[in-house]
Amino acid sequence: MKNNNYNFIVSGISEEVYNLTIQHLVQQYVQGATFCYDNSEKEDAINIRLQFFISDEKVSLNSDYENYSSYSFIKNKNDGKELKRLVSKEVVKLFNKIFNYISPWGILTGIRPTKLFHILYGEYKDFKKIRQILKEDYLLVDDSINTLENIFKIQLDTIPDLYTLNDTEVSIYIGIPFCPTKCAYCTFPAYQIRKNDERMKPFLDMLFEEIDLVFDIINEKGKDVTTIYFGGGTPTSLTAEDLEKVIVKIYSKINIAKLREITVEAGRPDTIDTEKLEVLKKYNVGRISVNPQSFNNVTLKAIGRIHSVEETIEKYYLSRDYIETINMDMIVGLPGEDSSDIKDTLENFAKLNPENITVHALSFKRASKMTKNKSRYPVASGKEAEKMLEMTKEWMKKYNYVPYYLYRQKNILVNMENIGYSKLGHINLYNIIIMEEVQTIVGIGCGASSKIIDKTGKIHGILNPKDPVSYSNYSTQINKKLELMKQYL
Ligand SMILES: C[S@@+](CC[C@H](N)C(=O)[O-])C[C@H]1O[C@@H](n2cnc3c(N)ncnc32)[C@H](O)[C@@H]1O
Ligand code: SF4
Repeated sequence: MKNNNYNFIVSGISEEVYNLTIQHLVQQYVQGATFCYDNSEKEDAINIRLQFFISDEKVSLNSDYENYSSYSFIKNKNDGKELKRLVSKEVVKLFNKIFNYISPWGILTGIRPTKLFHILYGEYKDFKKIRQILKEDYLLVDDSINTLENIFKIQLDTIPDLYTLNDTEVSIYIGIPFCPTKCAYCTFPAYQIRKNDERMKPFLDMLFEEIDLVFDIINEKGKDVTTIYFGGGTPTSLTAEDLEKVIVKIYSKINIAKLREITVEAGRPDTIDTEKLEVLKKYNVGRISVNPQSFNNVTLKAIGRIHSVEETIEKYYLSRDYIETINMDMIVGLPGEDSSDIKDTLENFAKLNPENITVHALSFKRASKMTKNKSRYPVASGKEAEKMLEMTKEWMKKYNYVPYYLYRQKNILVNMENIGYSKLGHINLYNIIIMEEVQTIVGIGCGASSKIIDKTGKIHGILNPKDPVSYSNYSTQINKKLELMKQYL
């Protein structure tokens, strides 16, 4: 990776069609590169020409970078996406040379590389063929292909009816938008809860109303519920009493015998207490998160989490008596942290032995406090971040955690992924379902995203209002969602 300014002078392809694709690809190698399509050089930049020639037979790329010249044959002229794929392939081959760095994900810029594996499996049912396509057509490195294949196999072992789940069942997401404080990196629907918060009652009233509206349709369509996931925000920001009321309300609407899993994210250790854990156990909640993010008190303070490392450990052990699967989230690349902090986090994991660990790479989300005040949050270099992520991967292997879902993020330090790990027997079904987009998920509550998958596999997405006040006033988005459900469920 280099930090010089690069300017790519592109010709032979249409700016509108290809600009975004090439920009996404270059981000894997270098930040801040520019592109121009009018043949103009930029001062103070390394100018490199990319000259494309597209004929009926092949896509060629010539460059003034070391007199580079290369091409790929067009195999299927009727495949509308092939041209874009071949342009990307030629670009990545050249960038790999210029930056002397082999991009592990090749030409893939999307956030769900495992989805491609599922699609190719549907088409070929042949691992050797899929591996060959990923290597030759998509330029993935062996390590990435192995990871995708392993995750794919674990997902199908865990949910053998993954591809037919959508025929008779749906999954449910419940968004609770409150947290004890707002973390500096976070842009989720998460509002700091106040004492006697006047937003709570209208929010809960609307939540109950929405549960009625949504389940009227689900039940009319004769669908059962596979999984329920409470997220947010921090669902355990609710009182034990309210939490119980919400779960009871949902249970009154569904055939519990068919429900395979109920997860309550919890997350913030400072919201967990015995009363809430008793409620969760009473209603068979199988998994919660007790999230450290880091085991360094200075970091926790800097990112705006008001719990301590000691409280994380205390609440983890408290939860052990009630919950079968405990997940712990960590973030690689938090401000002020380097590989010694990751070593410390991993040593703590070794002692605590949670069933699930989710490793996130720090993402600079546009609207977060951290991004708006970047200079106040110094973070490690891309190289150090890669090293830290590698440490987590090696550790997981050593301690028998398997990766079971993976997604790539935009605006991360370097080319990094978020990976969900689990001990065998504790894999979270909902995380697989949401990642692979194989089943309708109906989102209820604040900022809840619904993805309604129709009989042809097309996804109809819609988002509930993010803030509790707009949500509580009922919204056109909720009506739109109900209409989509009526039409496509
Ligand atoms: C929706 S949050 C909810 C979890 C819970 N409220 C908590 O904070 O413990 C899920 C996870 O996403 C991760 N996360 C949130 N914002 C992030 C960011 N900007 N970069 C990397 N990871 C992030 C954190 O690890 C967090 O635990
Ligand atoms: S507690 Fe979780 S959801 Fe709430 S602000 Fe922090 S990261 Fe976001």
